[in-house]
Amino acid sequence: MSGAGSNAAALLDAAAEPGFGASVVAVGADRHSADGLALARHAGVETFTVPFADYDDRGDWNAALSERLDAYRPDLVVSAGFMRILGAEVLERHTVINIHPALLPAFPGAHAVRDALAYGVRITGATVHLVDSGVDTGPVIDQAAVRVEPDDDTASLHERIKSVERRMLVEVVGRLAREGWSVQGRQVRLGGPRQ
Ligand code: GRF
Repeated sequence: MSGAGSNAAALLDAAAEPGFGASVVAVGADRHSADGLALARHAGVETFTVPFADYDDRGDWNAALSERLDAYRPDLVVSAGFMRILGAEVLERHTVINIHPALLPAFPGAHAVRDALAYGVRITGATVHLVDSGVDTGPVIDQAAVRVEPDDDTASLHERIKSVERRMLVEVVGRLAREGWSVQGRQVRLGGPRQ
């Protein structure tokens, strides 16, 4: 994650429950200042940072991130409010899912809530999807709708979407961990870094 980390915190809480089926082996960020890192430390989970600002080259940063991820041998990498585009260095080695605050394919990108409001849609929502090499283009795993209220601004709408995101992300990760899943005909491959 990159910021507040409320989605990551929801996963940490869920993983603490017996029967969830998954544990969080580490929480990582692209900047030292990400508030969510403190939440993870408080939960007794290992944290790491691969600061984007420390690298001149996007490929080098992706390679460093991939190497850090490899060390934890995660079955699944969750981009939970992670505001960077992941490159092939990560995606060829790890299965990654992302949470996005809109009903994709509408409103991809970093300003989804603002863009939906500006467009004037009455219904927006949240999407969990597999990450591919595009920006918010991977196969959809789950979606939930959120109604736009007449007096909404970006902050109020985003808060309501985030409470839906947290529930959906926890539900999807738990389901993947317990049952495995095929997404749009493609088997979600869990089981650690590819050799
Ligand atoms: C979420 O709305 C996520 O979809 C978006 O950024 C927000 C992160 O929130 N990419 P948090 O850091 O999990 O609280």
